[in-house]
Amino acid sequence: MIKMKTLSISFLLAIISALFVKECFTCFTYNEFVGSKMWKSGDSFYSECVCEHPVLAKKNLKWLGPNDQEIVESGPGKAKVYTEWKGNTLNLHIASLSKPLSGIYKCVSEGMNRQRYTISQKIEVYDPLYFVNANATQYLIKGQDSLITCEARADSNPEITWSKGQDDEEITVNNKYDIIQVGLVIKNVTEDDAGTYRCKAQVLDTGENVDRYIKAEVMKVPVVKEISANPNNVLVEGKPLTLDCLADGLPLPSYIWRKFPNHAGSIKNVTWHQDFSKIVFKNITEEDRGVYQCTAHNKAGVTAKNITVEVHTKPRISKFKNITVAEGSPATIKCAATGRPRPDVIILYYGDEPAQPVFRNKSSENSMDIVLTFDKIEKFHERIYYCNASNEVGFTVEKMYLKVLHKPHFKNPEEMVWAWDEKTVNLSCEHESQPPAIVMWSFKGNSDLAPEEKIMEVNQLWSAKISKTTEHYIKLKPVKNFLYGTYECIAKNHLGSAKKVIHVKKGFIPPPMGHVQISDITASSVTFELTAPENTGPPVIGFKAEYDTELNYNITNIHLNRTWAIGIPYKIDKLEKMTRYFIRFAAINEVGTGPLGPFLQFDTPGKSVPEPPTWENEADLTEVPLQNKILKIKAPEDNGDLIDYYVIKYCPEGTESNCTVKVIPPTTNVALDDLSENTTYLLEMVAHNSVGNSTPTRLEFTVEMMEDLAQRMTMSAGEIVGIAIAVVILCIVLLDILLLVTRKKGMIATCCFKKNKKKKEANKQSRDKKGLLKDNSETTDTLKRPDNGHKEYEYNKSTGVITGKHSAV
Ligand SMILES: *[C@@H]1O[C@H](CO)[C@@H](O)[C@H](O)[C@H]1NC(C)=O
Ligand SMILES: *[C@@H]1O[C@H](CO)[C@@H](O)[C@H](O)[C@H]1NC(C)=O
Ligand SMILES: *[C@@H]1O[C@H](CO)[C@@H](O)[C@H](O)[C@H]1NC(C)=O
Ligand SMILES: *[C@@H]1O[C@H](CO)[C@@H](O)[C@H](O)[C@H]1NC(C)=O
Ligand SMILES: *[C@@H]1O[C@H](CO)[C@@H](O)[C@H](O)[C@H]1NC(C)=O
Repeated sequence: MIKMKTLSISFLLAIISALFVKECFTCFTYNEFVGSKMWKSGDSFYSECVCEHPVLAKKNLKWLGPNDQEIVESGPGKAKVYTEWKGNTLNLHIASLSKPLSGIYKCVSEGMNRQRYTISQKIEVYDPLYFVNANATQYLIKGQDSLITCEARADSNPEITWSKGQDDEEITVNNKYDIIQVGLVIKNVTEDDAGTYRCKAQVLDTGENVDRYIKAEVMKVPVVKEISANPNNVLVEGKPLTLDCLADGLPLPSYIWRKFPNHAGSIKNVTWHQDFSKIVFKNITEEDRGVYQCTAHNKAGVTAKNITVEVHTKPRISKFKNITVAEGSPATIKCAATGRPRPDVIILYYGDEPAQPVFRNKSSENSMDIVLTFDKIEKFHERIYYCNASNEVGFTVEKMYLKVLHKPHFKNPEEMVWAWDEKTVNLSCEHESQPPAIVMWSFKGNSDLAPEEKIMEVNQLWSAKISKTTEHYIKLKPVKNFLYGTYECIAKNHLGSAKKVIHVKKGFIPPPMGHVQISDITASSVTFELTAPENTGPPVIGFKAEYDTELNYNITNIHLNRTWAIGIPYKIDKLEKMTRYFIRFAAINEVGTGPLGPFLQFDTPGKSVPEPPTWENEADLTEVPLQNKILKIKAPEDNGDLIDYYVIKYCPEGTESNCTVKVIPPTTNVALDDLSENTTYLLEMVAHNSVGNSTPTRLEFTVEMMEDLAQRMTMSAGEIVGIAIAVVILCIVLLDILLLVTRKKGMIATCCFKKNKKKKEANKQSRDKKGLLKDNSETTDTLKRPDNGHKEYEYNKSTGVITGKHSAV
């Protein structure tokens, strides 16, 4: 109740004052200067101003700023400086102080009749103390006077004091320290001067003070201890290389790499990649060789060190070219090679030793030129020359061809050619020439046979036809007698010419046989020694004998005959024992058979040693497997007395030790046992009768390795398939032929039958021709000499040619 009463009284009073006195009253009735205060910029500021008579004077209260402008009321966040009512209090708010806001702030209350009261205060805003040039870590250089910088800024000059270490011992200026504007000078730095220093800045006006702890390290000038090269500072091109610069120093140094020599001061392309202290070459090249400098530097200083990198390269041959030289001229072959280390270079050739070559060489640091000189090039110098350049890295070989140009050259500058009848001869002007020569033929004639005008006639004919030709052969058929004579062929190129003379002579049959001698005689055979007659015509190539028993010569004119190619034993066999024979010989050359010589008489004995044995299967003895080696013996002539045994002896080639000797009764098959694989044997066999041993027959055969033989015998799968296909095709063809023959149908019939009709006549003729040939070969004297049995010769009487029967001719 009492509270209620006071409230109602004061309420009443307020209404009264409001109604009547309101405009006359102020909030306070005094002036006051509260004081001056320092504020750090950035601080927030707040001040209250209380209205002591709120009911009467509240509206009369305001805040004025430094320039007496009113500070308006506003909520927070709207203005930096504002006022705010809180009950009866008008509050001044400054969110963040700054120097321009310094000044006098007044709370003013002013009544209607100009009563004015002020409560004022001064705000001085100062900037806070701060450090400049005061890095937390600083370096001292050993042995020198070094400075630790630490400066502070503030509105008034701050005072700086220094102390050091954990004891926080104050540093005073003495012979060790000097304190200057920008910092602390430490004289003659030693390792002991490293540590933590405190730089204390203080502003007396504001009492503000700030500490800065600075760690001082004693710097070391970098020293490049070593440059390591991995794998090595001498290496082969294409390999990777890492160079690492090992330096100490504090603070940690940084590195600069350079290469010397630089090309004429220009900055050479950097071919490496730097990774801190290292440089890496992915694959080094010859250009990368040189001196590399690593510079390590920090604040304390700089040092550098060099390393030399040597790059080895495989030799390269830059010059070794084909040359063409004329015979008789001097020549040089040059081989130029480069490589590191400098290569050794040689010029090589394979073959007979030519004139001693002279090598001269010229070399530089990485190259070598060598020269092979020839004072006078000869034809035999033409060949491939090799240049081999080698060094530690490897070798390179190049080849060149020295081609020798020379005038034409004949192997036989004079030749004799036999011609006869209408035989065509082939005159050869074959020569060597470089470049190819032009050939000119001419006919020189033969003084006896060819009159001057005939020679001219022939040559005119030729100059129209074949003179100046590159043709090396001409065919000549001396149908006219005067065409026998001397022919000349001149081969010519720009280096000269050469001449070949060919004498075409008329060939004739050999003269009669001279002396004939019997070299061996048995009961069934006789062997002669024949000597070709003195002869100026074409050479003798064989002999012919006509022989018969004395009895037959008395009865008939038709006698046995026999021909031999020259050089084989002249033996006649299948003679009757104890018989008188007559024989006469003729020599054979390409023209024909000469006249038969005088008769010779000989008598065969009643008995003699047997003929040497012969075999049926010597050719395939090698082919059969070891266990099947059986020699098939053809029984030889016993020469009048039964053969009682054979002796067979076979030894591995080149020894007389491991021989097998067999004495066997006359038989047809002999098994060869005790043979070893991969061995060649020499076999000898004789037949024996009461008179003695025949001459031996010899045979050489090889026993192959089982596997080799097996390999040759087995067919590959491919071959079997091939044969199968061939058989199928053959069956089809046979079937078709059967159809053709029986029904005149099938593929062949449709394809060929019509045409065949026309050709039938022709076919018949060709078949006849074949038959003729066959007859011919029967009439041809065929002589088989199965002794040593390897060669068989045939004498074709109509052509006069003697050929090996198995030869391809
Ligand atoms: C090249 O010379 C080197 C070193 O003498 C040798 O090893 C190499 O076999 C030679 N090569 C030929 C192809 O001659
Ligand atoms: C050098 O001569 C040889 C042999 O005549 C030939 O095979 C080769 O192609 C020639 N080389 C050059 C570069 O002419
Ligand atoms: C002449 O003989 C040679 C070799 O003997 C041969 O190459 C050439 O073709 C023959 N010429 C003629 C025209 O028969
Ligand atoms: C050579 O002898 C054979 C029989 O051996 C005979 O047919 C041929 O006519 C003879 N030839 C000569 C030229 O006497
Ligand atoms: C076969 O003999 C020859 C010479 O006696 C020998 O060099 C070779 O190694 C032999 N081969 C085998 C497979 O034994």
